[in-house]
Amino acid sequence: MSFGNCYKGKKVLLTGHTGFKGSWMAIWLKQLGADVYGFALAPTSDLDNFVTCGLENEIHHQEGDVRDAKALASYFAKVQPDIAFHLAAQPLVLLSYQDPVGTFETNLMGVINFFEAVRHTPSVKVAINVTSDKCYDNKEWVWGYRENDPMGGKDPYSASKGCAELITSSYIHSYFSNSGCHVASARAGNVIGGGDWAKDRIVPDYFRAAKAGEKLTIRNPYATRPWQHVLEPLSGYLNLGASMYNEGIEYSGGWNFGPEDTANYSVKQLIDKMLLIDPNGGYTIPADTVKPHEAHLLKLDISKAVNQLDWRPALSFDETVEFTVGGYNDDLKGQDILNKRVEQIVSYTAKASKKGIEWAQ
Ligand SMILES: NC(=O)c1ccc[n+]([C@@H]2O[C@H](COP(=O)([O-])OP(=O)(O)OC[C@H]3O[C@@H](n4cnc5c(N)ncnc54)[C@H](O)[C@@H]3O)[C@@H](O)[C@H]2O)c1
Repeated sequence: MSFGNCYKGKKVLLTGHTGFKGSWMAIWLKQLGADVYGFALAPTSDLDNFVTCGLENEIHHQEGDVRDAKALASYFAKVQPDIAFHLAAQPLVLLSYQDPVGTFETNLMGVINFFEAVRHTPSVKVAINVTSDKCYDNKEWVWGYRENDPMGGKDPYSASKGCAELITSSYIHSYFSNSGCHVASARAGNVIGGGDWAKDRIVPDYFRAAKAGEKLTIRNPYATRPWQHVLEPLSGYLNLGASMYNEGIEYSGGWNFGPEDTANYSVKQLIDKMLLIDPNGGYTIPADTVKPHEAHLLKLDISKAVNQLDWRPALSFDETVEFTVGGYNDDLKGQDILNKRVEQIVSYTAKASKKGIEWAQ
């Protein structure tokens, strides 16, 4: 009955279903009884969650490029989804410095093409664009960012997410304020969990090094991040989608899905905790590393989601790390990974239910 049974029997179209978050979302939606359709580039490695879980045989899978407006629109026209989530993006800060043009093309034109497809497909009742905590103008202060704080972004990735938010807001005001389709954007921070083997992300880098019997060099050990297990923001997106589907327009706009205010930990604290749970691995900190600008202090204020959606994180920091280490160990064993993911979803839902979180009741 999670999410009021909203997803059961619905056609849900996800872009980015071959990626880390999208593949977990596809698994969860399937568990909820949805008919899941995915549109994304092909997976890039045999370690990708989409591949190791065998999702090609579990959901409807369409390879395509979100920069190709016609291809995306015709997939929407063919599927006639009830609900759509946009997760396809170039999501890496370091890669955005190397390829700003490709990053802006995918992260801006992808969003525009998504909303164009949505507005020409009347079956769609809810559309959610997934952006990032990096969409905010980061003042490197101690307070959490609220949904109505200004957008910004110094590096190309962050700026592309700030722009993606402005695009979403413009489409809401121009096309979706009175259309029968409700539109929102969802902002989350650094998401961790089994199945993410992307380059230049600290947790995959750590497990890649551990797998090779090496120590990871940490580029920014004291940077704090709103670490969350991947199921936390996904529960926010699903909760938001169900509320919009059932209750409508008052949920349009931007939403933060971050950890509790007290739960921002540094890279070093995160890795030290992983080492306590699983001592295979290790790290070194170079004294003189100079790197491009990346936000050092970034927190999300989640009051709006807590008060208006009755959403909140279900896992403590320790549980977040336990779920994450458990997920990577499942990856490294390489057996029955889809069932292991489902077990984590069931266990996560049980923890949320025990904490009285409404979507899980
Ligand atoms: N992982 C995080 O920590 C994190 C944090 C904040 C926000 N986000 C956002 O969440 C979303 C999903 O991120 P992720 O971590 O799953 O990334 P990922 O790299 O694992 O997956 C990205 C997905 O987008 C698809 N994609 C990329 N370019 C495409 C294109 N041109 N056409 C079609 N599909 C394309 C890929 O095929 C893949 O399915 C992104 O919008 C990202 O910016 C992620």
